[in-house]
Amino acid sequence: MADPASSTDGNAPASEPLTEPPAPPLPRHTLTVRITHWVAALSALALLVTGIELVISHPRFYWGEEGNVNTSTLFSLPIPSSRGSVPTGYSYVLPDQNGWSRALHFQTAWVVVPTGLWYLLSSLLSGHLLKDLLPSRAGLSPKALFRTALDHLLFRPVRREPAYNPLQRISYLVVVFVAFPFMIWTGLAMSPSATSLLPFLATALGGHQSARTLHFLDTIFLVLFVAAHVVMVFRTGFRRQLAGMIGGGSKEEG
Ligand code: HEM
Ligand code: HEM
Repeated sequence: MADPASSTDGNAPASEPLTEPPAPPLPRHTLTVRITHWVAALSALALLVTGIELVISHPRFYWGEEGNVNTSTLFSLPIPSSRGSVPTGYSYVLPDQNGWSRALHFQTAWVVVPTGLWYLLSSLLSGHLLKDLLPSRAGLSPKALFRTALDHLLFRPVRREPAYNPLQRISYLVVVFVAFPFMIWTGLAMSPSATSLLPFLATALGGHQSARTLHFLDTIFLVLFVAAHVVMVFRTGFRRQLAGMIGGGSKEEG
């Protein structure tokens, strides 16, 4: 008797599988987001360390075009300096690390700028920017913002969500569209070669010294962002979150 499961020629199976095998889950983070995120994070660390060395060579900040040891400061940091000519109140001078710090700072700046442009362009073209980063109208409602802020402030257990929450989206947008571009602008405004070509880079900020002070204040803002960012990564499951940002994770799992 003919086997009902076999085909008429008796070789190939008669019935094809009725359902397609399930598609692999979409990654929570695309390869581009992951690569650009870690290159930017490592670059920011190098820029911070070298930037601190630059601050140590002159821990006094000014406003306007001119500023030196003979002019009054806007504020100064209560730390020793690596230059004997800078009055700090300390009786000793730190080792001068200015040479390699400046070189590494500028080299890393040239890594971070194309990385940021790659991230922006790919996020715009893939729809990531509009879909995952731009907060929805409902998410921007005062009630939703208040509830999310309260959850954070009261240290309520933070749920891992399939999408970023509205405050997370706003903070990412501020970092990507305000803090990083402003860092590049103020950085270029401190560079005499850039301002000789485009003087408004410095004049629009009030002068070279104002640009330096704003670059430093932006650094403090970024350090605070990263501290809060890493605390939130810990609170939502450090290993899982990190594995997601390295290996991709899964959109369904959140
Ligand atoms: C300057 C340093 C950093 C900046 C500017 C930064 C910025 C960002 C941005 C903009 C995103 C959203 C990416 C997107 O979907 O387009 C993100 C996500 C993320 N970052 Fe960072 N980050 C920094 C450092 C770090 C560090 C040091 C860690 C971990 C120790 C970290 C862990 C993560 C994780 C796990 C996510 C995904 C969060 C989630 O899926 O909910 N980041 N970061
Ligand atoms: C995460 C990004 C960055 C951080 C945290 C950072 C931090 C700093 C800090 C703390 C200083 C010392 C300020 C001083 O005392 O003079 C500095 C100096 C400087 N930065 Fe940045 N920076 C960043 C990105 C950039 C970028 C992208 C550029 C260029 C486009 C740049 C150009 C400069 C310049 C020209 C100086 C002055 C160097 C000197 O004193 O000769 N920085 N930066």
